[in-house]
Amino acid sequence: MNSFPAQGRPAEEILQQIDHMKSHDMDSTGSRLWSLVYYHSPEVLQLAQEVYARYISENALNPLAFPSLRRMENEVVSIVKGLLHCPPAGGGTMTSGGTESIFLALKAARDYARMHKPHLSHLEVVAPLSAHPAFDKAAHYLGLRLIHTPLDSDGAADVSAMEAAISERTVLLVGSAPSYPHGVVDPIPQIAELAQRKGLLFHVDACVGGFILPFLERIGLPIPPFDFRVEGVTSLSVDLHKYGYTPKGASVILYRERALRRHQFFVYGGWNGGIYASSSFSGTRSAGAIAAAWAVLQYLGETGFVAAAQAAWETTRRIHSAISDIAELYVIGRPAATVFAIGAHPPLDIYALGDALAKRRWFLDRQQRPASLHLTVTAGHARVVEEFIRDLREAVAEERLRLGRGAWRRRMGRTAVRAGLAVLPERWVRSMARWISRTAQTDRPPRRTAALYGMMASLPQQGSVEKLVEDFLDQALGA
Ligand SMILES: Cc1ncc(COP(=O)(O)O)c(C=O)c1O
Repeated sequence: MNSFPAQGRPAEEILQQIDHMKSHDMDSTGSRLWSLVYYHSPEVLQLAQEVYARYISENALNPLAFPSLRRMENEVVSIVKGLLHCPPAGGGTMTSGGTESIFLALKAARDYARMHKPHLSHLEVVAPLSAHPAFDKAAHYLGLRLIHTPLDSDGAADVSAMEAAISERTVLLVGSAPSYPHGVVDPIPQIAELAQRKGLLFHVDACVGGFILPFLERIGLPIPPFDFRVEGVTSLSVDLHKYGYTPKGASVILYRERALRRHQFFVYGGWNGGIYASSSFSGTRSAGAIAAAWAVLQYLGETGFVAAAQAAWETTRRIHSAISDIAELYVIGRPAATVFAIGAHPPLDIYALGDALAKRRWFLDRQQRPASLHLTVTAGHARVVEEFIRDLREAVAEERLRLGRGAWRRRMGRTAVRAGLAVLPERWVRSMARWISRTAQTDRPPRRTAALYGMMASLPQQGSVEKLVEDFLDQALGA
């Protein structure tokens, strides 16, 4: 049904339709996704659902109306401050997610620079290539120029390249703990030393790592320094809706000094609706996400998070050891924790392996430069790890067989396609991508994507890929 019903429909019928539509989705509690979902256990999920439901209509925009929300937000921020060693003079807020936290860190840095260096324009941020695209997005919205710097051979930020990219317009340096694509922790102490020497702000993106690295450290893993214990780190983002196992819509942005936090606020006194003040980007804010985050932190406590980190780490080690027994596969770079990527030696095509795993109902993100499959391992994956390893071995064996049968023909075909892509008009390539994206538009998660990813990775210009994906988004969104 596409139209707005003239009259309302019975709740029972709507729920049935929802269940039917949802039956084609990946199961978010089944731990068969290796990104997007951070599942802990049925107990955590049930508590979060109950608490979320109790706050379904409240609005965290105005702390005066709902003091219970203000209290929970303060307590969550305090817990995270303690965990990441933010000094008492520091402060933070909850936000709707990593992207918003990063946006606010960049806004605070921009407005801080505008106040302290008012003569400068066209302000710049220096970030390693592995930094999350949320930085590019924020810089785009805020009118900042983001300068990407190369990585070293292990996939970590190259600090001398960062130093070379600094100009008098630079306001902020960025490091990840860890980066999403390969799970590598940047050399935070060295970047912090550079920031201090140059008098710059330094943001650590611990969106994915901030709620697992401290617990891995407690079980004795050699976690490189990344939090406020490192002098020179001035702000840090950490998502609760990732390794905090809380419902989507919960992240924290922290600042070493509250004076810096003030630059993320927005206050407007001229509106006839009254004085409008908002501490973050959003106006209306989900109370459910704040309350459920508070509840999950209370429920698991420190020991619960240590146990969850241990389970995710043991599962990661199990997968690494299985990969080291498969000649065609390897783990990319030097991941510090439970986020990593699998690459393949030619002629095995890692995207085809992704498709073979999708056939077995595993969902893995495809990455590029180099081509790889992404895994973010959570506590929930402990239940399914042996099945995954069995399927991974089977999928590789299947690919070996296929390669044995048609290696020559396929290699010739691919060479021809690559040569063609380098010279074909972009219009042709785009219409081909439209065709591929239409074929991927069923109600089910796509299973066969190797051709699409292979083609995109072969396109000569990054701009062409971006245009292709814009077309894809436009068509996929439909209405
Ligand atoms: C390192 C890192 N930073 C930022 C983000 C953006 O977070 P969100 O998707 O919650 O906006 C992610 C998301 O995966 C991430 O892994």
